[in-house]
Amino acid sequence: MDIVVFGAGSLGSLLGGLLARAHDVTLVGRDPHVARVREGGLRVTGELEAHVSPDAVTDGRHLTANLAVVTVKSFDTPTAADALATGSFDAVLSLQNGLTEEILADRLDTPVLAGTATYGARLREPGHVACTGVGEVALGALDGGPSSLAERVGKAFRDADVETLVATDMPRRRWEKLAVNAGINTVTALARVENGALGDGDAAELAHAAAREAARVARAEGVRLPNRVARAALDDVVDGTARNRSSMLQDVDSGRRTEVDAITGTVVDRADAHDIDVPTNRVLAGLLRAWESGRELR
Ligand code: PAF
Repeated sequence: MDIVVFGAGSLGSLLGGLLARAHDVTLVGRDPHVARVREGGLRVTGELEAHVSPDAVTDGRHLTANLAVVTVKSFDTPTAADALATGSFDAVLSLQNGLTEEILADRLDTPVLAGTATYGARLREPGHVACTGVGEVALGALDGGPSSLAERVGKAFRDADVETLVATDMPRRRWEKLAVNAGINTVTALARVENGALGDGDAAELAHAAAREAARVARAEGVRLPNRVARAALDDVVDGTARNRSSMLQDVDSGRRTEVDAITGTVVDRADAHDIDVPTNRVLAGLLRAWESGRELR
């Protein structure tokens, strides 16, 4: 299969590298990473190892492939969608934080699949990504239910030995992931701690409260996500990724804009629409946005 991976950050590079073991992959990213991948290939080390030679480009316009996998930061989604619209693809799969699939679906004629990924990844240097945790990709139709397109994409991922589940309950999974991210990413980024620090104590309480509020908003949106399920999902991710630095903490560490708008901002906006109080998410969003404003990142 021909696969374009839009976004050669940590997750995009890891999945692009793994998919390149079985498919023709083109990575769309930025220099110097892209230039290094073109010169010497892409090295994957850590819990999985590979040395592959995907194509790598900085201009994502006018590309043709069977599948486009979108892993760009949530705030870059409209730009990625505009570039995708100039090319030709049979399917687009989003593996991003936040509920970005709607932005892609609104702007593209191509069918959009929803996805979540729990692989841990860290860009070590240009041309080198570390796999810090073998997780799973779940993908399926945006509105849930069976999808033959999702089955085909799932098979392509499995052919490359990527742990993949073709799911028929993506609406619930997307909200569960949003609840987990609303708890883990914000608290780890503000407290500057690894995910494992949310195992107990005040930080865990705060993360649980954020996830609980997100679950309540999900239910108002018609998605069955009980509080205890959101909390258990968060605890599972904390246990399974204890030594990881969340993507939001990595952003703060590097002085980059975070995904607070797509994660906590989405929870707050949808809560407002349903007249629901989400005080924890509101405070966490305020603190992260204040940090971004102080660094002129917004
Ligand atoms: O954004 C992240 O870092 C990840 O989604 C997760 C699951 C919180 C693990 O660090």
